Amino acid sequence: MSRELHLLAFGNTRSAGPWRHPDIDNSTAGVRRALIERAKAAEAGGFDALFFADGLNYGPPATWPYKITEDFEPLTTAAALSSVTEHVGFVVTGSASLAHPYHLARQLLSVDHLSGGRTGWNLVTSFARAAADNFSAAGVVDHDERYRIAEEAIEVVTKLWDSWGPDTIIEDRSAGIYNDVSRIRVPNHHGRHFDVAGPIGAARSAQGRPVIFQAGSSPTGRDFAARHAEVIFTSHGTQRGAREFYTDIHRRATLAGRERPPLVTPSLRFIVGSTEEEAHRAERAAYEYFSPEYQAAWLLEVDVDVTGADLDGPVPAGAFPDGTETHQTALAGYRALAADGSPTVREFLYRTVNGWGANVVGSHEQIADRLEDWFTSGAADGFVLSDSGLPGQFELFVEQVVPLLRKRGLVRHEYRGTTLRDHLGLPVPQRDEVSA
Ligand SMILES: Cc1cc2nc3c(=O)[nH]c(=O)nc-3n(C[C@H](O)[C@H](O)[C@H](O)COP(=O)(O)O)c2cc1C
Repeated sequence: MSRELHLLAFGNTRSAGPWRHPDIDNSTAGVRRALIERAKAAEAGGFDALFFADGLNYGPPATWPYKITEDFEPLTTAAALSSVTEHVGFVVTGSASLAHPYHLARQLLSVDHLSGGRTGWNLVTSFARAAADNFSAAGVVDHDERYRIAEEAIEVVTKLWDSWGPDTIIEDRSAGIYNDVSRIRVPNHHGRHFDVAGPIGAARSAQGRPVIFQAGSSPTGRDFAARHAEVIFTSHGTQRGAREFYTDIHRRATLAGRERPPLVTPSLRFIVGSTEEEAHRAERAAYEYFSPEYQAAWLLEVDVDVTGADLDGPVPAGAFPDGTETHQTALAGYRALAADGSPTVREFLYRTVNGWGANVVGSHEQIADRLEDWFTSGAADGFVLSDSGLPGQFELFVEQVVPLLRKRGLVRHEYRGTTLRDHLGLPVPQRDEVSA
């Protein structure tokens, strides 16, 4: 089968300002309705999955005045949305360094069952101090140590997922025996960080087990992703940077003995219009509704500080520290965004709305061209798309860009299977395999 472009989209995109738009209903019922509409639109567009990011904290206190509250917890959101959809997948963020692997394994597999095999786990090693403060942790654990914890956590989680094999359930009604106990694998895991006896009482799901997503970008993180991830999230401001990353991940995956490299899906923020002019009008609206105060406060999480600077003046030289213990790739990415031309603080902050990832503004043709170019030049296997958060933009992508991508033979016309692995073209892992 020829290569297929994979479309994923952020589930929540509204926290940074567009909630002020008069057509957005910020009540709990309104947010719930918007989530359902988004899931249905994604499904109509044949998207592989919606992705729910999570930081396990409400963000730096300086962001609180500007931020919506109903930004729901990913696992429960996925469970709810899976019951109003049939095909689209749900990738939920779970912290391997803060959440206990028993809970993670059980909740993720449970949602995978409830969704009929449509769940993915975005495995993160939480970097925020505010997240550590919510988990009785004495500060953020050192970066590489977080990956060592994650290494053990994924081992525990996959052992728990593999407690049941395809032949464990015998369901002998006359004898009253449901499980062949000799075929239950009890993890009995005793490691440096976790002691987990197991098993969890859940069989394999329709897709075997949830798909592993990961977004390592440091050398340690890339090695981790190259070993374990089936799909990699990443962010690059330029196509060249994305291509270098793609090549590097393939190299690391080969070194790790992987026969099949992980799929790489960079984040991309789009603003679309039927014409270029219409797209630029939509961008002006997005610019009007974004909140520079929120963005400035949010950047404090990675030690970038432009708070107090004149929004219409230049970015102060002292805004960027030499290094950070939080998120080094983010710091470098934001520094690059500030160095490109001479943006005002406000313009710089607008550029950070999609983190340090790429942005595209244009007609449906121009957006399809950009996606195709990244895909065919070896910069991406697909994208995790975010929109401006303004009403109608995501639907416009589904109505106008997806048909073009289909016409060009880049994305499928309809779902060929029912599970997230089917959509992504990933095999069902054999029992006991830790990576794909
Ligand atoms: C598209 C994308 C989505 C991400 N989503 C989350 C998230 O929801 N929660 C989180 O804690 N980190 C998230 N991250 C950050 C990564 O998990 C990771 O910490 C980061 O890429 C830094 O890599 P490193 O840990 O190897 O330094 C995301 C990164 C990218 C590129």
